[in-house]
Amino acid sequence: MHSARSLSVGLIGAGGMGMRHAENLHRHVGAARLAAAYDLDRGRAEQVAALCGAAVYDDPLRLIQDDRIEAVIIASPDATHAGFVQECLRWGKPVLCEKPLATSAADAARVIAAESALGSRLVSVGLMRRFDPYHVAVQQVAASRRLGRPILYKGVHRNAAIPYDVRGEVIVTNSAGHDIDAVRWLQAKGGSLRERAHEWRAKAIGFTHYAKARVESDSRLPKGLDERTVINFLNDIAALYLVKIHWDLITKRWTQAPFTYRYEWLTVFYLVFLLVRSRKQAPKK
Ligand SMILES: NC(=O)c1ccc[n+]([C@@H]2O[C@H](COP(=O)([O-])OP(=O)(O)OC[C@H]3O[C@@H](n4cnc5c(N)ncnc54)[C@H](O)[C@@H]3O)[C@@H](O)[C@H]2O)c1
Repeated sequence: MHSARSLSVGLIGAGGMGMRHAENLHRHVGAARLAAAYDLDRGRAEQVAALCGAAVYDDPLRLIQDDRIEAVIIASPDATHAGFVQECLRWGKPVLCEKPLATSAADAARVIAAESALGSRLVSVGLMRRFDPYHVAVQQVAASRRLGRPILYKGVHRNAAIPYDVRGEVIVTNSAGHDIDAVRWLQAKGGSLRERAHEWRAKAIGFTHYAKARVESDSRLPKGLDERTVINFLNDIAALYLVKIHWDLITKRWTQAPFTYRYEWLTVFYLVFLLVRSRKQAPKK
């Protein structure tokens, strides 16, 4: 049961993370309740609302502006974050924004400037490692210098599965942020960070005031015998077998009269296209 004084929270984005925040509020946070939900896909907002007894909104800005909504959680796609946070700041609403705060440094800086101008801290970013007991324990040991000065931070983040059209830069803005934040947090003092992004592989190597840090975020699991490797291997065997049993036909007939065997050639080209496409690791820029 929620008390009548519980904080009314609005949720923007009711997908995987949005639903998790809603459930956490509903089940574990007695001092707050989910009062409103918006999602581009209304069905998702309705699902969350049904769980928590919240109202469904058709417009995210109306949700933010509504006087009855006292705080906002943003769990919509990355590119929408900065705009929604700015709107929350405009209306003086505390906001928990899922990471990243923005998808460009310039947008993030504008949000920080807007919050600083207000003179009160209203924005929290969903960098949950800072609240994870194991990470907190490491941070406390590092900060205490009980084991001496930290000399190396190494963070490795692997996404087991990632949508086909996700580009390399997104690995930096979406995933590496956890580690880039941890570098600064674990070593207490900040410093400059240099980042390099490649298609499908992004590394950020940072040097802080104290130590060296290496952050590696990847869209693939470590090399090994995964499902994809096995499927690729079986595809290769099947392709070689097909070539072997058709070898006489290919060399003696199909190459002699290509037009007569055009459908066979078309089939070959199509199969090669499928093989190449299945190997393609990243879309072209
Ligand atoms: N802190 C973490 O560890 C962590 C983990 C996973 C995801 N995230 C972040 O949470 C956010 C959501 O990720 P997710 O995994 O829940 O994705 P998701 O795709 O499951 O959910 C996103 C939801 O946003 C909705 N949406 C799309 N455009 C919208 C818009 N303009 N306005 C409002 N809603 C819109 C979609 O319909 C969908 O329901 C992302 O920014 C992601 O980076 C953080």
